Amino acid sequence: MANIDERELGQMLVSKAKSQTVQVDVGKVSRGSFFTTDTSWLTDSVRSFLTEAFATVNSALDPFAGDGHLLQLLHAEFGVATHGFDIHGDRWPNNDSLLDIPNIQRSVIVTNPPYLANHSAKRKGVQSLTLQYFAGGRDNLYKVALDRCLESADFVVAIIPETFLLADYPFDRLVLASVIEQALFADTDAPALVACFAPVGLGLGRSAPVYVSDRPVGTLRRILASRLPSGTSQRRMRFNEPTGRIGFRAVDGTAVGERIRFMPAEDFSYPRSGVKVSSRLMTYLEIFDLDAAELPRFCAQANELLESIRNESQDLALAPFKGNNKAGRRRRRLDYELARRILLGTLEDGKYD
Ligand SMILES: C[S@@+](CC[C@H](N)C(=O)[O-])C[C@H]1O[C@@H](n2cnc3c(N)ncnc32)[C@H](O)[C@@H]1O
Repeated sequence: MANIDERELGQMLVSKAKSQTVQVDVGKVSRGSFFTTDTSWLTDSVRSFLTEAFATVNSALDPFAGDGHLLQLLHAEFGVATHGFDIHGDRWPNNDSLLDIPNIQRSVIVTNPPYLANHSAKRKGVQSLTLQYFAGGRDNLYKVALDRCLESADFVVAIIPETFLLADYPFDRLVLASVIEQALFADTDAPALVACFAPVGLGLGRSAPVYVSDRPVGTLRRILASRLPSGTSQRRMRFNEPTGRIGFRAVDGTAVGERIRFMPAEDFSYPRSGVKVSSRLMTYLEIFDLDAAELPRFCAQANELLESIRNESQDLALAPFKGNNKAGRRRRRLDYELARRILLGTLEDGKYD
């Protein structure tokens, strides 16, 4: 291949340095075809929302209907009329629902739209198929799908990535979100939630309650507030610093005790040579002007603050990362922005001059 950036359709970039690619299933990736075969998304809170919605409009539409699992369940549980669209296959009327969703009856939309980040479309070599959808500026196909659903229906129930809670998306019509703990899809373990939206003017916005399955966690506002204020401190720190005196494991491991934490560099076995400017999982960092003798106390306090954030938000303040650990708990990743806030908060509270 002459130029690695001019790949053929569906050639996913594995290593730019080694010019390595693998072929992905172009149709499946670009259409986000992962089917919802499990019923755990229909929690008690989602069920009550749907009961009220169907009392207003007695029909359901899935504009990304696939094998029709969601519609079958809705018909069986609520007895409503169902109809669907898809861009693929001949089971449903063909419609490009990322461009427009015809819904004259204003049926309740219940759907699991395609998920695909713009940067993943580039990496997976399917950008030419998805380019037109990103023209409006959204960064993931599920957000484009949500835009179309909210335009064409008053009530929308969407199974979307759990990262929606931390996303830059208007929450004004949101009335509840329920994080799904079980593996929902037959062929991917993408962490998901069910977001329920009301008609314009009736949403709760950031006051919407968030559940994990049916356990209430608090409002979306509270979860976002647990990520601490961004702060104005000028203390100098540098992440991804190979000679840094603090080791930072930014992801939970698969073993139960392997939790995200900060530690004095000598307690971290990760090779310093593995640190790159793009490192996001394991790294070293430096806090300039912090006395070496204070490092163990400082790391312990930062870990305490992190654990209190995890407790308060039941982990939802952190992004999910690659499935569950061996105890069945969803693994998490600490983004550097929240890590920075935790370190600054610790510096301020612990009086490290
Ligand atoms: C994630 S699957 C969900 C299927 C079904 N809702 C379920 O949960 O089992 C997404 C579906 O959307 C369809 N799809 C992808 N892009 C589409 C588009 N632009 N318009 C309509 N359907 C599309 C795919 O063919 C696939 O069947």
